[in-house]
Amino acid sequence: MIVLRTHVSNLMPNPFRLLLPLSRSVTVTVNSLFPRTVSRFLPLASSTVAVASMSTYSTPKWWKESVIYQIYPSSFQAHPGAKNEQGIGWGTVKGITSRLDYLKALGVDIVWTSPIYKSPQADMGYDIADYKDIDPIYGSVGDVDELIAECKKRDMRLMMDLVVNHTSNMHQWFLESRSSKSNPKRDWYIWKDPKSRSDAGVPEPPNNWAQILGEANSAWTYDTETAQYYLSVFTPDQPDLNWENPDVREAVWDVMRFWLDKGVAGFRMDVINMISKVPSYPEAPIVLDPKTHKYQPGTQFFVNGPKLHDYMHEMYQKVLSKYDTITVGEMPGVDSEDEILRTVGADAKELNMIFIFALVDIDKPNVRMALKGWDVKEMKGIISRWQKVMFERNGWNSVFIENHDNPRSVSRYTDDSDEWRDKGAKLLALMQTTLGGTIFVYQGEEIGLRNAPMEWDPSEYKDIETVNYWKKCENIYQNDPEKLKLGRKVIQMKARDHARTPMQWSSAPNAGFCDADVKPWMRIMDDWKMVNAEVQMKYEGDELSVWQFWERGLKDRKEHADVFVYGGFEEVNKDDENVFGYVRTSKEGEKWLVVLNFSGKEQKWTVPTKEVDFWACSNYTKGRPEKSKSREIILRPWEGVLGKLSG
Ligand code: NOJ
Repeated sequence: MIVLRTHVSNLMPNPFRLLLPLSRSVTVTVNSLFPRTVSRFLPLASSTVAVASMSTYSTPKWWKESVIYQIYPSSFQAHPGAKNEQGIGWGTVKGITSRLDYLKALGVDIVWTSPIYKSPQADMGYDIADYKDIDPIYGSVGDVDELIAECKKRDMRLMMDLVVNHTSNMHQWFLESRSSKSNPKRDWYIWKDPKSRSDAGVPEPPNNWAQILGEANSAWTYDTETAQYYLSVFTPDQPDLNWENPDVREAVWDVMRFWLDKGVAGFRMDVINMISKVPSYPEAPIVLDPKTHKYQPGTQFFVNGPKLHDYMHEMYQKVLSKYDTITVGEMPGVDSEDEILRTVGADAKELNMIFIFALVDIDKPNVRMALKGWDVKEMKGIISRWQKVMFERNGWNSVFIENHDNPRSVSRYTDDSDEWRDKGAKLLALMQTTLGGTIFVYQGEEIGLRNAPMEWDPSEYKDIETVNYWKKCENIYQNDPEKLKLGRKVIQMKARDHARTPMQWSSAPNAGFCDADVKPWMRIMDDWKMVNAEVQMKYEGDELSVWQFWERGLKDRKEHADVFVYGGFEEVNKDDENVFGYVRTSKEGEKWLVVLNFSGKEQKWTVPTKEVDFWACSNYTKGRPEKSKSREIILRPWEGVLGKLSG
């Protein structure tokens, strides 16, 4: 079972020494006493582990082997002198450009930035007011041109966020649409009459759907001028576009071409599986306590709706097929393999890959801001399922465990206490760098940032979802201190804010995020002097820092792409309740064994294969770990090891 602790302070770094990456026949210093030769390219091996026989080593493509790094732009880097109108420190495009060398050093190929377009920032840029302009808070279109050019110089590329399920309520399209029922853009959004009116004339929304980012509220917003409701499934600031209207679709294709013609590599598509709604807009089933919740999640009526694939095909045919792009669709709430393969199958002609939410939703009951127990076996099952499905059915995975909508992975899946944070972060790095698919690293994950501590007051949390949630708790549970305490715990475990604290660059004032005399828009984590990129990059010690471990892992992954990116996947010792073990196999038969102890206790684990040729790495040591090559091995708390299998 996972132990989650809130952190107190950090004691981490002892001095680090950068290790040469494990690569083709290079000699590395394991520790000062035992230099060894590390070679992952040993003669072809055949182990006793059965490997998926059905098909299908995916056709190599640049976007499959690329390392993507997600930037949360407000919190990444403010350039010197940057501050917003209120004098607040806020990340900028120039700031991103100034950190490209850092990203290159980590091994990043593609930089994906969350939205930087013109926006009132009601949902931190996921409410776009102009798709072809950049918000002045971040800079200008010229700054983005410069970013694209600077990426190119480094053989890197930029990927944009495409948010077209909805716009901002301040987008010109919406302003026109709401201006009158006869406006030509009226039909660009989803307008409906009230379901009913009370005797006093108070209107009722067309159905009982709840807002996703504030489930106490209706997904419909009443417009008094035209006496109709518009649909806004996230917040009233984010009205949903009506994709049934071909002019809307043409406008979206136009936006995509605009950025692709500028040279961006492609798009991450925000909730792209919500663009088609069930046209009868049925009432949602009651899953939240109706005594406290008037509105209910209506997601089943707009997730992978009836025309989704028509729209995606049209997008492919009219835009994507004309460019060599990377595309990843954010697709929450879909679990059907057939349905997912309709989008990411090799011949689907829709998207390269999607984000499957099963792993990050492991602790989600029916709404995100709530708690649900889970265990390691469940986690292993989810990961193994999608690794196998994509391999056997010739689809493509994205590999991710963090993003701006989830708490920090080291806090969620391992133990973020000062004692174990570093091991936990490296364990997760080892797992991700050895799973098949295109890998995504989220800002700060590479230095093992953790959740904000329990001691932080809810007022430190800025995200609209958290703010709405806490408002609801204070409202409903004002006379129930126990429930209120539970609400605070939910924030501790689930708030999106945990992933949005400013990046910790160095031990300089404000962690190097913004100028010393400027207050950052969001509180910086209290551990920044100890947990930061500079300290970790320079670290010299018996083991690698989290950053160094990621850097080496990403490099190894690339050099062994045939195994780790494209290879077959077979879970081993499935019944183990704490340890996740799997074998990755290249087309040529090279095999690697990954063993990950997802517990804070020592574990005995039996090697199910004939023989481990050598153990190549562990998150406890810089070089090769000492472990038995067959039968039983002992794994230390949160230890992960990688071994080359012999014949
Ligand atoms: C998903 C985004 O990742 C999230 O941050 C946002 O709030 C919603 N979509 C609405 O755009």
